[in-house]
Amino acid sequence: MSNKDKLSVDDIIDFLKQEREVYGAFSVSENRTPDLETDQPSSKGQNSTDENDLKPLTILEKIDRCKSLEELKNLSSEAEELKTDLAGTNLVFGVGNPNADLMLIGEAPGEQEDKQGEPFVGAAGQLLNKILAAINFDRKDVYIANILKHRPPNNRNPEPEEVNRSLPFLKKQIELIDPKIILCLGKVSGQTMLNSSNTLGNMRGKFHKFGDRELYVTYHPAALLRNQQWKRPTWEDVQEVRKRYDKLNGKP
Ligand code: URA
Ligand code: URA
Repeated sequence: MSNKDKLSVDDIIDFLKQEREVYGAFSVSENRTPDLETDQPSSKGQNSTDENDLKPLTILEKIDRCKSLEELKNLSSEAEELKTDLAGTNLVFGVGNPNADLMLIGEAPGEQEDKQGEPFVGAAGQLLNKILAAINFDRKDVYIANILKHRPPNNRNPEPEEVNRSLPFLKKQIELIDPKIILCLGKVSGQTMLNSSNTLGNMRGKFHKFGDRELYVTYHPAALLRNQQWKRPTWEDVQEVRKRYDKLNGKP
């Protein structure tokens, strides 16, 4: 290879590095020097083509590449896909034990949650803490997240389109936490996770299959604040969840 060719290879590598600053990491290894004669990568173990290397990753590919909850949280913090049409909201990613065997999924952050960047910290959250205490869990034992990771304006229900943009992030979050049981709080969460238009009454009271996991739906704690008569069935639901958790040898 002539010096002139060598120079242009370096230029290309510099260009690729700059592109990576803009578009994020794609799989070009630092020490890879293409052989211009044969157009074959000189380093072994590259199974992707140059064309694939140069395409910016889609958001689904970026999600797929996250190897830890921390990486997914970092990706989420800059993801336009997770935003609602309320400007200036904070990411409410999730909180709790990253290895929890019980994961709770609510609907969307409210005002307090948005302010503090943590799910279920307002009035509904206080009640949720009591519900958890009734079955011998602390918030820190379980993992708590929402369908949406940003607050919708006026706490309106999530739009189907917002749910669709958010779900790949939530599904990856579930995969990384790897809980044995998912407890959906309220109708919106249950319908979203079960991909169903069933009523809450039809969804609650039984364990549903969710891949290798089990999923249970109960009332939303905010609904209990307005409807005292739902407290008792909720208590019964969470007793069932605790029993199943112990039966499945949930930690600790
Ligand atoms: N309601 C929810 O569904 N999620 C929260 O985080 C708070 C209130
Ligand atoms: N309807 C809801 O949307 N959620 C509940 O928890 C109960 C009724």
